[in-house]
Amino acid sequence: MPSNKERTIAITGSASGIGASLRNSLESDGANVIGIDLNDADVIADLSNVDGRNQAISETLDRAGGALDGLVTSAGVGPPYDPEKIISINWLGTVKIINGLREALAVSNSTAKVVAVSSNSTTITPNVPESLIEACLAFDEEKCNQILGGYSGMASMAIAYAASKTAVARFVRRSAPSEEWAGSRIRLNAIAPGAILTPLLQGGLDDEEFGDAIKTLPIPAGGFGSPETIAKWIEMMLSDAADFMCGSVVIVDGGSDALLRPDDWPKSFTI
Ligand code: NAI
Repeated sequence: MPSNKERTIAITGSASGIGASLRNSLESDGANVIGIDLNDADVIADLSNVDGRNQAISETLDRAGGALDGLVTSAGVGPPYDPEKIISINWLGTVKIINGLREALAVSNSTAKVVAVSSNSTTITPNVPESLIEACLAFDEEKCNQILGGYSGMASMAIAYAASKTAVARFVRRSAPSEEWAGSRIRLNAIAPGAILTPLLQGGLDDEEFGDAIKTLPIPAGGFGSPETIAKWIEMMLSDAADFMCGSVVIVDGGSDALLRPDDWPKSFTI
């Protein structure tokens, strides 16, 4: 693997929280980072809409000279936020960027790495409608909005968030082993953090309704995680330590998932 000094890594959501922490760490190690965000980034783009995503892809390709060694999709929003926008930013703003930069990753000199930032909301949010997750995966925005219309307030935001992050995790699981990804020497994996103290989580904590719900989340390791901890895990998943990692969704959540559903993993399948 080339040293960090020779690596070019794109990060969406690089201006704040986990993305900013990762950017600092990679840059201090000499990597060439292309940050993509609404503000304070190399590529200023709004990933909530088609034009912004296309602009992010073409400007990133220009800056990278057509070849990328790594991509981390950390841009995201969380409750309280418009549920339809949660889907368009967290799901479409992730999958379209990953797909749009695939060819640049395939021409890396080393085994390229993609780390999609999912969430432990994928496993600990109850009653997320399967139809919403599948509508995301089918890119059926009209159906997503129709399903979300059946919910209101806090429930619609929590469900939109969990569905967007589950779609990201499933996209990774479904795509990673394929010819397009593993077969093109690109490792596609996801990280699923728990409650990490960043501006996003603080926004939830400051909200009257969500604040109380977040504070009741059991975290056996004690307290919220830090963006630096998650950045270290992502760095590992960008390194050659991840050459043999393909389609994994790594939960780093202080034990919330293990506490709430201890026996739901591992599960074998029946033939
Ligand atoms: P943050 O709010 O500190 O950073 C998110 C970044 O995404 C910001 O810089 C923001 O400007 C950018 N962003 C938002 N909407 C955008 C848009 N339309 N176009 C371009 N950029 C946009 O949040 P944090 O916590 O660092 O979140 C990073 C990722 O981690 C998100 O995907 C989030 O869902 C996920 N996550 C966060 C957890 C937490 O507890 N903080 C837990 C699990 C997952």
